[in-house]
Amino acid sequence: QPVDAFDLVIFGGTGDLAVRKLLPALFHRYVDGQIPDGTRIIGVAREALDDEGYRQQITAGLNGAAAQNPEKFKAFLKLVTYRPLDARKDEGWDEFAKLIGQQPDHVRVFYLSTSPDLFVDICRRLGHYGLNKGESRVVMEKPIGRDLASANRINDDVGSVFNESQTFRIDHYLGKETVQNLLALRFGNALFEPLWNAEHIDHVQITVAETLGVGRRGSYYDNAGALRDMVQNHMLQLLCMVAMEPPSSLSPDAVRDEKLKVLHSLKPINDENAAQLTVRGQYRAGATEGQSVKGYIDELNEDSKNKIEKSQTETFVALKAEIGNWRWAGVPFYLRTGKRLAERVSEIVVAFKPVPHSIFHPSAGPLAQNRLVLRLQPDEGVKLWLTIKHPGPGGLRLRHVPLDMSFAEAFGVQQSDAYERLILDVVRGNPTLFMRRDEVEAAWRWAGPILAAWEDSGESPRPYTAGTWGPSASVALIERDGRTWNEDN
Ligand code: BG6
Repeated sequence: QPVDAFDLVIFGGTGDLAVRKLLPALFHRYVDGQIPDGTRIIGVAREALDDEGYRQQITAGLNGAAAQNPEKFKAFLKLVTYRPLDARKDEGWDEFAKLIGQQPDHVRVFYLSTSPDLFVDICRRLGHYGLNKGESRVVMEKPIGRDLASANRINDDVGSVFNESQTFRIDHYLGKETVQNLLALRFGNALFEPLWNAEHIDHVQITVAETLGVGRRGSYYDNAGALRDMVQNHMLQLLCMVAMEPPSSLSPDAVRDEKLKVLHSLKPINDENAAQLTVRGQYRAGATEGQSVKGYIDELNEDSKNKIEKSQTETFVALKAEIGNWRWAGVPFYLRTGKRLAERVSEIVVAFKPVPHSIFHPSAGPLAQNRLVLRLQPDEGVKLWLTIKHPGPGGLRLRHVPLDMSFAEAFGVQQSDAYERLILDVVRGNPTLFMRRDEVEAAWRWAGPILAAWEDSGESPRPYTAGTWGPSASVALIERDGRTWNEDN
């Protein structure tokens, strides 16, 4: 439903996320008539820019969308202003508080798109000026902290200014259409749920592969790495959506309670088993999408003044997770994610067990597994791989073919970006698709020992050539179990 004019303050307003994702998402919503005039979008960062300078910066980030709709874009830019502020200095905060105070009836959203070390300073200042009162909300980007202890500190400190119902911990994967479609598929069809368990499912694979490198985000990324950047949040959230018990309703807490139980049921990966269950890698020079690209270290050095020679940060992770509960006993969940891989593809594959007995002559060909493939991007869609008879009189030959549903073809609409939906959910105050504090903690409780095991091992991430599927050890990780990564794209 439509929202009233609101105030959105983006801390980290000149950063990659703001320019590449948040502002384009807001523009698209504006074009669709979802953002009323009178709304104020205020970029905040340390750079000394004026409103015009900021508008120019964001125009570059909108990748031509502006050119397609110049009239609307001009009108949109009128909503956008800029304030230079440093979270650690007093200067400018009085004026900023006055500016926000000019619209006491607006819902206020403070979007923390900065490094997590600044969350607390920013929130304390917002609290000092009373900007946490009334219809005020704070949005925290992931990863929240870099381990359980730092996440707790941030949650406590932010929590001393904003209460839990005002706090929106964003994981934009939850706003992706296919992820929500998983709820519809699982709980809107009688077909899947009876099979959705260890008796019928052989294993699950979740792949989030990117062709991009670290780009401008080297200083953030080198402190994070793929496990903190992708696995602790996006990939575990996907795993939860696949594995959770049916919630009693779609109310925010009913869904989040079920996800939390899954996180609590993950079997620990630690010093004892990390070497068998995980693989981490770091890209070297190679080529993606037909272009030669630098290795990770050289890419980092492009963006930073202090040259580094070595980094232990992983740009690729593959791991085998298990959920210790009745539904999933013995069903591996293979997760893999990385930068500078062969293709950009994110998908969830649910692989079913084979039929118990084959009635076919060996010459009919092998019986393949049924696989349900949920494609998140690109080309969002759902495929269900079935065994059928090859048509014609030449005897019974088996073929493996997909029932194939592409969202673009079926609905003829361009998928909207996850942020478009999530930002407006914050304005509306709907937390269903956001992480509750206990989920973040449970995810860190599981991820922390993996990071510790890697550190304790003293080993470096395995090198892989940019444009490949990561270190060969990640293929071995799944092939050891007699399974293969999905290749039926
Ligand atoms: C972000 C990560 O959360 O997700 C990035 O910090 C990553 O490193 C991005 O590139 C991927 O998002 P998407 O929507 O492009 O798959």
